[in-house]
Amino acid sequence: MLEAALPVEKSVPKPRSPELPLTGPIPRHWFAGNALATHLVNGVSMLFPAGERFFVRSVNHYLGQLPDPLLRAQVKGFFAQEGRHAKEHDRWNEILVAQGFSVDHFLAGYERLAYGVIERVSSPALRLATTAACEHFTALLAEKALRNRILEHADPTMRALLLWHAAEEIEHRAVAFDVLAQVAPSYPLRIAGLAMATACLGTFWLFATTMLLWQDRKTVWPKLRLHLGQIRAVRKERNLKGVFLPGILAYLRRDFHPLQLDLDQLAADYLLDAKLA
Ligand SMILES: [Fe+2]
Ligand SMILES: [Fe+2]
Repeated sequence: MLEAALPVEKSVPKPRSPELPLTGPIPRHWFAGNALATHLVNGVSMLFPAGERFFVRSVNHYLGQLPDPLLRAQVKGFFAQEGRHAKEHDRWNEILVAQGFSVDHFLAGYERLAYGVIERVSSPALRLATTAACEHFTALLAEKALRNRILEHADPTMRALLLWHAAEEIEHRAVAFDVLAQVAPSYPLRIAGLAMATACLGTFWLFATTMLLWQDRKTVWPKLRLHLGQIRAVRKERNLKGVFLPGILAYLRRDFHPLQLDLDQLAADYLLDAKLA
């Protein structure tokens, strides 16, 4: 939801460690028994550990150049939150392995291409701009998870992990953007970061999801129509509109700022409810 004015208060993101029993067995199709929905979320989750460590490296490159102590404190809070998210999503990847999925080849290829090649040939400023755009996307996904309550029928452990992650993504959604605005305030650079983030996230997410669906094809194909129908019904019932196109259009506005997205109360309410405030 876009609001006209910027919120006045900027807070320091606070890292939390929810007790998540990720060592116990998690149902193979943990998302309401729907294999398609499960692998769509598994797919993006697989990208998170290396992705979030990349975000930290990109912002950390500029930490010494930030004169504002509040922004420096926010950056440190952002690092702590992303570090914990990456760790939990590492454990999620271990769960996929325990469920019988082969993910190592995909992860090795993704990490080699994304961080061994694309990161290395990109300038520090483009890496930061890509991070700022990725943070915009994660905040938009977080809003869907919290506002539309799409995880209501998910396995409780996975739901707790995703909603904790979503709330903290909302909390730190402006940090990389504000660093970018301080160290490299260029509209074309911000848009180049948006293009890079869209291309990389879209491509790797698609490959990860396809790879999991292929490995699970014996259960996915016979129920494909049923699962597609369930997803369509939930989209209709929860009035779920697109995430990425409106998000990209908003980000293209020259005066865009992540705090124009009116999300703070949504995150605060969840954290209070989950006793994580
Ligand atoms: Fe995160
Ligand atoms: Fe983030």
